[in-house]
Amino acid sequence: METRLVYKTLIDEERIQGRVREIASVISRDYRDTTPLFITLLKGAFIFMADLSRHITIPHEIDFITLFSYGQGSRRSSNVGMINHIRSNVRDRDVIVVDEIVDTGHTIARLMRTLEEHGAGTLRTCTLLDKPDARQVEVRLDYIGFTIPDIFVVGYGLDYRERFRNLACIAELTPDLERAFNP
Ligand code: IMP
Ligand code: MG
Repeated sequence: METRLVYKTLIDEERIQGRVREIASVISRDYRDTTPLFITLLKGAFIFMADLSRHITIPHEIDFITLFSYGQGSRRSSNVGMINHIRSNVRDRDVIVVDEIVDTGHTIARLMRTLEEHGAGTLRTCTLLDKPDARQVEVRLDYIGFTIPDIFVVGYGLDYRERFRNLACIAELTPDLERAFNP
């Protein structure tokens, strides 16, 4: 397959898994006296959440929400809407928002606002990847896996046109890969 030849590994599987275990152990310690509720952003964070959950040693609950950006059809939009409602009752709960990547910050900022309005007791954020150079709105990130430069990456839940979510590593989108999709 042409696409297998053209992605470049940025963070390999072993490093990701090691870091996910570290974050899980810190969260397990920080929340040992409570039962946190993880609100997970679909689709991208589904793999991160699945791995994180299996390494967390305290009781916890998991829910999922889908947000979407609209506007000029651009990936980087400040207009973020919600596809489904938050089904869990977040009132007075210890909530941790889980995302796979924080880029402009608009998505996570939008979700945080809604969770505050719904009366979350405490609110923290957890992201596997942080791209601080791309930030357009300030957000507090409490648990960060890796800080990366402002480049487009795929794998471990992250997609390019719905592809590559299944890669076990985080890979850089190379010009060759773009060519493969836009011959
Ligand atoms: P935001 O810009 O922080 O609102 O992030 C919006 C969403 O864009 C993220 O949750 C990802 O789904 C997607 N995204 C941002 N950067 C990348 C990337 O490098 N690869 C794939 N998806 C990305
Ligand atoms: Mg996302």
